[in-house]
Amino acid sequence: MKRVSFAEFGGPDVLHLEDAEDPHAGPGQIRVAVRAAGVNPVDWRVREGQILGAHPVTLPAGVGLDAAGVVDEVGAGVDGVEVGDRVFGEGASAYAEFAVLSAWARMPEGLTFEEAAGYPSVVETALRILREVGVRPGQTLLVSGASGGVGSAVLQIARERGITVIGTAGAANQDYLRGLGARATTYGEGWVERVRRLGDVDAALDLAGSGVLRDLVELTGDPGKVVSIADLAAPEFGVRFSGVAGSVPDALAEAVDLIARGKLHIPVAKSYPLAEAAAAHIDSQAGHTRGRRVIVV
Ligand SMILES: NC(=O)c1ccc[n+]([C@@H]2O[C@H](COP(=O)([O-])OP(=O)(O)OC[C@H]3O[C@@H](n4cnc5c(N)ncnc54)[C@H](OP(=O)(O)O)[C@@H]3O)[C@@H](O)[C@H]2O)c1
Repeated sequence: MKRVSFAEFGGPDVLHLEDAEDPHAGPGQIRVAVRAAGVNPVDWRVREGQILGAHPVTLPAGVGLDAAGVVDEVGAGVDGVEVGDRVFGEGASAYAEFAVLSAWARMPEGLTFEEAAGYPSVVETALRILREVGVRPGQTLLVSGASGGVGSAVLQIARERGITVIGTAGAANQDYLRGLGARATTYGEGWVERVRRLGDVDAALDLAGSGVLRDLVELTGDPGKVVSIADLAAPEFGVRFSGVAGSVPDALAEAVDLIARGKLHIPVAKSYPLAEAAAAHIDSQAGHTRGRRVIVV
């Protein structure tokens, strides 16, 4: 089969499309014929060798966690899924013709493979950080970097829970944030004052890692009401850095329910063929994705 891999850490040019042995589903796993793979910032962070503690890598390595596809092999001890089912989930080396998944769910009706590949990691992260920041219905949550993959999910899940959201994003994404039910403003010079004009803030999420933790603590009045997924300096401000994934099966089950009820939609920002994975990484790394970029197989 074809898969995208890298034999050394580095820039997008270390990615190559290679011929590889077909992977096989071990106990508790399934294999899918991949139709689409989600492009998450973690993919290029791993490619650069940035976060090897959390994501140990043996070179040469495949790329990608999230995939949507058709089940074509079921491992020992796996029930409730059959060859031919359309599923989305998390695994390893997802930028490939075949990938092994360790967590999955049946795709909701009406979702394309391209769309489905954008959900797994994003929804797991959104549910986790909403839990960790402890925001309640009726309260107001500030989301810095609200228009990307994780932000898109956070805004919609918060709205569904009766939480008011103030979101920051670039000028081109203000209407997008409003369409997801948030009060919107731009980041950059003067942003704290613009947020204050939109309302008092009970809790805050830093999704962009743009050096705003001091401001978020000031706006909430309590470092315990701020969570970052993108700024490793968080502990210096007494802020929690969230980096340990919660239950992916639980997140997928909740995603399926929200999607089926029309409460959650992550748009596909752009699709790339497998051979253009490096371009997908360059674009993701630029830091301005609306929704999720996707590799199509
Ligand atoms: N720790 C974890 O468990 C975990 C899990 C998932 C993701 N992450 C990290 O979290 C970050 C976000 O992930 P993602 O998938 O949502 O990324 P993404 O889809 O690339 O979105 C990034 C967003 O940040 C916004 N942005 C760019 N510059 C900004 C600034 N100066 N201030 C505020 N917002 C800004 C962009 O908005 P505009 O396009 O409107 O400019 C864009 O929508 C990444 O760094 C990723 O590595 C961590």
